[in-house]
Amino acid sequence: MLRYLTAGESHGRGLLGIIEGLPAGLHITADWVNGDLERRQGGYGRGGRMAIEQDQVEFVSGVRHGRTIGSPVGMLIWNRDWPNWEEEMSPAPGVPIARVTTPRPGHADLAGTLKYLAPDMRDVLERASARATAMRVAVGSVARRFLDELGITVLGHVRAIGAVAAKTSFPPDRTAVMNSPVYCQDEAASKRMVAAIETAAAQGDTLGGVIEVCCWDVPVGLGSHVQWDRRLDGLLGQALLSVPGIKAVEVGDGWDAATKPGSQVHDHIHVSDRGLTRPTNHAGGIEGGISNGMPLVVRAAMKPIPTLREGLPSVDLDSGRPTSAPWHRSDVCAVPAASVVCEAVVAFVVAGQFLARFGGDSMAAVQASFKAQQALLAERFPRVYD
Ligand SMILES: Cc1cc2nc3c(=O)[nH]c(=O)nc-3n(C[C@H](O)[C@H](O)[C@H](O)COP(=O)(O)O)c2cc1C
Repeated sequence: MLRYLTAGESHGRGLLGIIEGLPAGLHITADWVNGDLERRQGGYGRGGRMAIEQDQVEFVSGVRHGRTIGSPVGMLIWNRDWPNWEEEMSPAPGVPIARVTTPRPGHADLAGTLKYLAPDMRDVLERASARATAMRVAVGSVARRFLDELGITVLGHVRAIGAVAAKTSFPPDRTAVMNSPVYCQDEAASKRMVAAIETAAAQGDTLGGVIEVCCWDVPVGLGSHVQWDRRLDGLLGQALLSVPGIKAVEVGDGWDAATKPGSQVHDHIHVSDRGLTRPTNHAGGIEGGISNGMPLVVRAAMKPIPTLREGLPSVDLDSGRPTSAPWHRSDVCAVPAASVVCEAVVAFVVAGQFLARFGGDSMAAVQASFKAQQALLAERFPRVYD
């Protein structure tokens, strides 16, 4: 079973990650992961902190000479901002703490403080912060390397920011996405998105948007219909909804499918000299909770950043008096950055499901298991599969 844990506070010393279940023999370098960390820190609309942080991963276990060895992969990302926060985060005994007592609407501040009976709201907001997504991107980046070795591509890109929607095509154009300041393949829409972010910033407001993650050359049979917690769509939905700020997820045509008759929604099954083909992909590559061989297409809706310059109405929990939520250095729009996080979490789920189906202790064993399954398919269905 492929699994991971992360630890670390936003302004703590750093972030920790442990991945368990990766086969031995996967080639991975810090440069590969750092490329994804850099993408997460970029994207138009981010706040001042990104100028301070330049995230770099350190492999502290499980990797030797650029390849995994089968033991847990341990990773570290130090927070460069830590020296500015050392006093606030871990004051010397007797030094009074500058406590946070007013929750920001839209954050974990209120619910988390009540749940944990926190003496200082910082105990909650530090871990709830999206800073932890840096390590989730590092973890997903390793998973993406695993998929890359098996010929599977994953790419997250931005479909909409606020009211500005992009034109899209499949597969998304990686170069266009990488060259866009908002990670959107539609150049004209990118410009309008940047303008929308500038307008929001000038008004002290924030914006959300829509992210799409596509994954192609995915084999048939990842996930399963037999149990609720083995369905690939369910696993992807959980992973995406666990990204801070993501409020809705759709697979394939998603919400749009609910408005159309069945004749316009379900992908016909054809056969040609290349075997089975599907002329459309409304299902987004998943039927019955199982990958069907078509590209996976999932979308996630991100709410606008909840920290506004003019603090939203709130209450000081100590005094019980109405007040405004505090403003901290904050992003105006983090949809581009979140597209990298969404890509990472999708990569992790797909890698985990690939290993669940074609597992092995080494990359060679995984490749052999995959080939053996292809051979079985060709043997069982010679007329439609080769
Ligand atoms: C990459 C990324 C960066 C974010 N940056 C900020 C930020 O600077 N300020 C902020 O208030 N929220 C930011 N958010 C959003 C909050 O983390 C999110 O709205 C908050 O955790 C509550 O969302 P939830 O109710 O979905 O957990 C960011 C989210 C992501 C994914």
